Amino acid sequence: MTDARSRSRVLSGIQPTGELHMGNYFGAVENWVRLMDEFECFYSIVDYHAITAGYNPATFPAAVEGMAVSLLAAGLDPGKCSLFLQSEVPEHTELCWILTSLAPLGQLYRMTQFKDKSGDQGEAINAGLLMYPVLQAADILLYKADRVPVGEDQVQHLELSRTLARRFNNAFGDTFPEPQPLLTEAKRILGLDGQTKMSKSKGNHIGILDDPDTIRTKMGTAFTDPQRLRRTDPGRPWVCNVFTWHKLLSDEATIERVDVECRSAVLGCFEDKMMMADILIERFRPMRERAAELRARPETIREILAAGADAARRVARETMEEVREAMGLWQTKRGPVTA
Ligand code: TRP
Repeated sequence: MTDARSRSRVLSGIQPTGELHMGNYFGAVENWVRLMDEFECFYSIVDYHAITAGYNPATFPAAVEGMAVSLLAAGLDPGKCSLFLQSEVPEHTELCWILTSLAPLGQLYRMTQFKDKSGDQGEAINAGLLMYPVLQAADILLYKADRVPVGEDQVQHLELSRTLARRFNNAFGDTFPEPQPLLTEAKRILGLDGQTKMSKSKGNHIGILDDPDTIRTKMGTAFTDPQRLRRTDPGRPWVCNVFTWHKLLSDEATIERVDVECRSAVLGCFEDKMMMADILIERFRPMRERAAELRARPETIREILAAGADAARRVARETMEEVREAMGLWQTKRGPVTA
């Protein structure tokens, strides 16, 4: 490996699902923001991954922009990381093809996410879903990232990235470090239903950019303790999802007070939910304000992403030069590494 880096490199990716919700934020992006100070970070909005699932070309651009705005509003600082669109760095698909030739088909078929997504579609499933983790490996290896902040559900994909790095290195010489997952302390946020992981497709989410009225309305529908039927019934905070959110967001004194007053039926579920609404409204206020500023200057968003793609391409081109050289691909002229 030919680079001498002063800091470890981080890469992560997120699908362009529109504006971020609490689950994405506390489960991943809050950590991405922290990592910027310690590592050299590349963060990609993975639009080429997104097209493997049914998507609507008419609403896709807005979903990608919404994700970009949210990430910047949530605290990604373009001065401290490179934020870019995957499809604007063509080397991702180029390396993906090369890795495809090294990827064990059996391992791809065994991916839990593939099995879940292919469901009962059998062979009608599109091949992109099978190749999804190979593209993910390309995302990571292109930057020779050593660390990849992901959730538990991506550990298997990361293992494939390591397999592919190892196979490449064995076949063509030491080129890629084996990327390690950087697991965030499990902050799996359940949705408003208190049952399943928060997600947009389930409609059980609160967006970090939701306006105060929307947050209040949505909090009104949040599930609490199903056994607490009357206002005077004592509550069981240990089964209540809203109490879990207090533990994430409130100070010690508030957590203690809610715990005691819920158990003794001093605090009603609705009051508690409106208290949580106010906490969320305040917590996300700076993000809503930054998002509004960015939305007022859409050209700034494009400039940030374009600069991010330039920075990413500088690294990506260099890696691809090295890859082609190592693989013995005959070239009529060596591509100059310029940006
Ligand atoms: N598959 C990841 C997810 O759904 C997204 C992703 C794509 C990613 N490329 C990546 C994550 C590279 C980490 C590194 O969450």
